[in-house]
Amino acid sequence: MGRKLLLEHINVPGINTLAVYKEKGGYRSVEKALKTMSTDDVVEEVKKSGLRGRGGAGFPTGMKWSFLAKPEGVARYLVCNADESEPGTFKDRYLMTHIPHALIEGMIVGSYALGANVSYIYVRGEMMPQIRILEKAIAEAKAAGYLGKNILGTGYDLELYVQPGGGAYICGEETALLESLEGKRGNPRIKPPFPAIAGLYGCPTVVNNVESIAAVVPIINDGGDEYAKTGIGRSTGTKLISASGNINKPGVYEIELGITVEDFIYSDEYCGGIAKGKKLKAVVAGGSSVPVLPANLILNTVNGEKRLMSYESLSDGGFVSGTMLGSGGFVVYDEDQCMVRNTWNFARFYHHESCGQCSPCREGTGWMEKVLHRLEYGHGKMSDMDLLVDVSKKIEGNTICPLGDAAAWPVASAIRHFREEFEWHVKEPVLALTQNFGIGKYADALES
Ligand SMILES: Cc1cc2nc3c(=O)[nH]c(=O)nc-3n(C[C@H](O)[C@H](O)[C@H](O)COP(=O)(O)O)c2cc1C
Repeated sequence: MGRKLLLEHINVPGINTLAVYKEKGGYRSVEKALKTMSTDDVVEEVKKSGLRGRGGAGFPTGMKWSFLAKPEGVARYLVCNADESEPGTFKDRYLMTHIPHALIEGMIVGSYALGANVSYIYVRGEMMPQIRILEKAIAEAKAAGYLGKNILGTGYDLELYVQPGGGAYICGEETALLESLEGKRGNPRIKPPFPAIAGLYGCPTVVNNVESIAAVVPIINDGGDEYAKTGIGRSTGTKLISASGNINKPGVYEIELGITVEDFIYSDEYCGGIAKGKKLKAVVAGGSSVPVLPANLILNTVNGEKRLMSYESLSDGGFVSGTMLGSGGFVVYDEDQCMVRNTWNFARFYHHESCGQCSPCREGTGWMEKVLHRLEYGHGKMSDMDLLVDVSKKIEGNTICPLGDAAAWPVASAIRHFREEFEWHVKEPVLALTQNFGIGKYADALES
């Protein structure tokens, strides 16, 4: 059994309540940090832990905290990004639903470290149950003296608010989130300035993912060095993986970074193998934004080494033969899944969610969706694949925020690794379309 730092007590009845959470050692990190550590000490421990942001980009959390500007007399904010709208990712809501106090505890320690006296948890608007759960848990924590004025008699004050999100994927991008939190339309801001200098209401702000903030609790309890002993290389600690698709045991798993992808897919501790005894075809390892990889490349790197569940190993081979850990949204496709339909589905999502500020993204996502639609529905041309790659290249790197890249990479990688299947959709339009009803299959066609 792998080490569990976040979900150890997930199955304890009543763990969502303050009483049971405390019985299991909850809020120790608040006592320790506020009573025995300076704010700099807390930042130092997080740096030592090697924790990397769990929201997608994997930026080192301690370093991000140390970049926060501290001008005299200006408020600072810690904002938790609980927007979680990336297709394939559902770990944050799982944590908030079952162990809400883990996030609140991390928010108190993080806010203390950053010198914030008002902090926010920005939760995706559709997640009303989680919003209610957090509000209830915050009220409990406040009644117990962990929030409000003079926390635990230490003289530190903190108010923590839950803000329902604006209901768009783009509101998860940190500067769009801040705009939305300020009551405006969630459009990403041009950077610089970065939030660490001018964030919420123009004040220095850190935006962190739910899981990153919750991970601060074991880091402070056990020390950064101890946390860094779990994991591999620069991928320290544990990671929550949202596993879905054609596997026997979909769900949220806490893994020690560094286990093999093969182990994660096939062992009974995690996904339990491909459903119905079928073959593995492809995996989207880090949420819909990352490049899709075919079975051979997700299980092994080009050098023939076993691919590991870590930031470095998953990105080995760059975008030609690698992918990214991203937010840990691990979507598994069996041999019967249609890559064209799947790519079209993602393209529809990104077209719908583009905020429209940048023309390459606004127009490009629409074109990609249209071309993929015609390929899927039997009207495609052989030149469409090059056209799609060309459009994806014109979006990538040419937008204010990374939504453009997130829309481009799934399309470019699907064509790179599954071009023959795309071509087959042009050559055999009827068979290809019926593939989605289990009648015509690309795999069978190749064999016959
Ligand atoms: C379109 C878009 C959507 C995003 N959605 C989320 C999200 O739902 N949750 C999240 O934590 N980060 C999301 N991010 C990443 C955030 O911008 C930011 O990098 C992250 O919250 C930083 O937290 P971390 O350092 O703890 O990972 C998104 C980024 C983009 C471009």
